[in-house]
Amino acid sequence: MADNQNRDQWGSKIGLILAMAGNAVGLGNFWRFPYIAATNGGGAFMIPYFFALIVIGLPTMLVEWTIGRYGGAHGHGTVGPMVYIQAKKAISPKKAIILGSVCGAIGFGVTVLVNSYYTHIIGWSLGYAVNSLTGGYVGVDSGAFFVNYVTDPKNLIFWIIGLASLGWAVMKGVSEGIEAWAKVMMPAIYVFGIILAVRAVTLGAPVNPDWSSMKGLNFVWNPDLSQLTSASIVTATGQIFFTLSLGMGIICNYASYLQPDEDIVTASVATVALNEFAEVILAGTSVIPISYAFLGPEGIKGSIGLAFMALPNVFTTMAGGRIFGAVWFFLLFFAGFTSAIAMYNYLVALLEEELGVQRKKGALLIFVLYLIVGAPIAAEGIITGEANLIYFTEVDNWIGNYLLIVLGLLEVITLAWLVRDDGLVEMNKGGLWHVPKWFYKLFHQFLTPICIIVFLGIFTRDYW
Ligand code: PHE
Repeated sequence: MADNQNRDQWGSKIGLILAMAGNAVGLGNFWRFPYIAATNGGGAFMIPYFFALIVIGLPTMLVEWTIGRYGGAHGHGTVGPMVYIQAKKAISPKKAIILGSVCGAIGFGVTVLVNSYYTHIIGWSLGYAVNSLTGGYVGVDSGAFFVNYVTDPKNLIFWIIGLASLGWAVMKGVSEGIEAWAKVMMPAIYVFGIILAVRAVTLGAPVNPDWSSMKGLNFVWNPDLSQLTSASIVTATGQIFFTLSLGMGIICNYASYLQPDEDIVTASVATVALNEFAEVILAGTSVIPISYAFLGPEGIKGSIGLAFMALPNVFTTMAGGRIFGAVWFFLLFFAGFTSAIAMYNYLVALLEEELGVQRKKGALLIFVLYLIVGAPIAAEGIITGEANLIYFTEVDNWIGNYLLIVLGLLEVITLAWLVRDDGLVEMNKGGLWHVPKWFYKLFHQFLTPICIIVFLGIFTRDYW
């Protein structure tokens, strides 16, 4: 077993929290949340969303930090082996190896699959930043521009640039680069997000008098319960996993670089709070109302391209909009980049620490793997000539609705039922705040796993 003497560690507490926020805050907040929330009824979606946040998201976040720090102290930065280490105390080593390998393999596979499309949206953000600067989308209908964008093979260059930059950043190592960038860029995302939200609520009704941005705000915050479906319950849970970077072991990996006495509880709560502010307050008050104002109550539903089809409309009508648009899309690129680095680093750490693959080789291997799994998505728009990316949407549905949630369930059960009370002791080691025993028993042992199982059951009942 490796020891942790040569492992990287985060430099400062604020750096750690911003790096974790950089990991969680990403395209999931500004691209995925608006399209998923709008497609699932807006306000009606927010009810299961908040429920899943408290009952499933926060407890699972605590679990990943706990497993992560424990694993890091034993020289492992990824979920499978950590589950193994933890479970070893409670079950036979043979079973533990099986469980650990299964979790590691699912984590690896799901992360690669997420990146088959996630890296494309990073590319879109970069491409849109460049098109803002050059005025590429000025005077063109934003919907039509999006169709042209995803069907034009030339734009794949932005995907490749994004991928190459990711590979390069990961080869250089974790803590310094990510922390330094996150300290500058994360606050910038919040400041620009607030400006965009103010612009959104003062937008009025630029296209149709019935489609004001205020009505768009109402659409998110005033639930129409008739829109609540069983599908939206599990979709909301999946969005919580996606946006908080849970269910793959990514948070575990970052937490494995913690100092041994780090305050897990405060740091977890801070990560969740920063992420939710960006998602619900900023994206909910900017991207959704803007999309509503330009696309209307029907147009806002169903398209994975929503954020890209709606926002350029605003920038083209703003003073200094081209610069503002470029800055916004570049920040989006950065938000996606920091999340993608977290995923990439996790995969490389898994290869390095568990299979002995040298870091540089691992980074190259993942780069090639990303190119291969990303190829069908790259090809889809070009071949069909449409922006209605069916394969892409399907993969994203599978990730959000099943895969992340199943792995999250395994993590919670491992800690709360195999490691049991020692899990709570580990969680509370160091730090100011402690998770009380009743909370651990009520949430980690019962509510969280039961709700996940029930939600998955409800959702899949059509199949059995
Ligand atoms: N949470 C990130 C986002 O919202 C995406 C992500 C998912 C990152 C899973 C890491 C792991 O964009």
